[in-house]
Amino acid sequence: MPASIDLEGLGLDAGGHLLVLRGLAALGAGDQLTVTGRHPALAVQLAAWCRAQGHHVAGSTGPDAPGPLLVTKGRAEEQRWLGAVRAGDPGGRPERRADPRWGLAARGALVEAGGPPIGAEWADREHVWADVAPRLYAAATAAHWDPATAVDWSAATDLPAEVERAVVQVMTYLVENEQAALVIPARLLAQVHPHFREVIQLLAAQAADEARHVEVFTRRGLLSGGPLGTSSAGGRASLQTLLAEPDFTTAGFLLSVLGEGTFLELLRFLHARAPDPVTADVARLALRDEARHVAFGVAHTAHAVRADRAYLGVLRSAVERRHATLLDTAGLNAEVFDALVLLAAGSWSPEAIGRGWAAVRQLQADMDSGRRRRLAYIGFPDDEAAELSALHTRNFM
Ligand SMILES: [Fe+2]
Ligand SMILES: [Fe+2]
Repeated sequence: MPASIDLEGLGLDAGGHLLVLRGLAALGAGDQLTVTGRHPALAVQLAAWCRAQGHHVAGSTGPDAPGPLLVTKGRAEEQRWLGAVRAGDPGGRPERRADPRWGLAARGALVEAGGPPIGAEWADREHVWADVAPRLYAAATAAHWDPATAVDWSAATDLPAEVERAVVQVMTYLVENEQAALVIPARLLAQVHPHFREVIQLLAAQAADEARHVEVFTRRGLLSGGPLGTSSAGGRASLQTLLAEPDFTTAGFLLSVLGEGTFLELLRFLHARAPDPVTADVARLALRDEARHVAFGVAHTAHAVRADRAYLGVLRSAVERRHATLLDTAGLNAEVFDALVLLAAGSWSPEAIGRGWAAVRQLQADMDSGRRRRLAYIGFPDDEAAELSALHTRNFM
């Protein structure tokens, strides 16, 4: 007894094919579905549709020939999904290796065979993943702040001219570092297999964070009417080495573990020593975001090292290579260093400048111990962590 459906007055040009499909869904190839209806063009429409879908149809209907139509289900549908695979488990951990043939398909989707493979560079979980990535992405999304309202831009910043210049110099320096920190995750995420969607989402949120940092530091730098400070060749050379790093884990290690890790101390320092509330605010807001960037960098690098302990050697040579490249550059812009001293001093008395100098030396010591702590967490023995921390760029980032 064949299955049957009645389309009543509905034509296949107005959605009737959905009912035919539904009727055929439960049937196997070779099974028959009886289709009846009153639409005058039903026989013509059904014949054309069945031809396109690979089904056979017999009989005729309509005002002249009111008999039912008999559709015999073909094999096209069955064959279309031959070789289709699930792109991993949507709820669980991503697969160890993402198939390039899954392309842009959602994790867990049934992927029809034959689509174009995705040319993503990183398709191995251990090369991009950290178990904390989904939680960090959720935290990043929840913590997004609005530069227009998160900072009280009308707060007084009528500082002595030299102090204002010091703030402007530091802001100018921060902006170029933030621009590097924006470009790198944006570049990396485009080469991660979409199967690791939380990593891509997190890197996108990170790039958006950096876009806000660029904005607020620029805005604070221009608050007193400009001009901005200087950009040193050595500072830019240091950032250039980050941009050029091709490996996902190594790039994240240099940028987030060492660079942004060092910046945590710098932003803490600026927040504590800020001579005005706007500078304090922008440093505090950026610091909050940077803590997440560092957390992912550290978690992912530790993950990669746990999966393959030999990775420590790769990371080590990346630090050494970068150090060798930058050996002949000045590293930190001297004007930035001097500006930090003045901000910490608060005045021009020799005694205050001496205190400011000591405070910046203490800042460098704090940066060093932070780096050593993170390197040790990743898996470097303490002596090697100290050695590598000492090789870190003088530009901080
Ligand atoms: Fe940033
Ligand atoms: Fe960052």
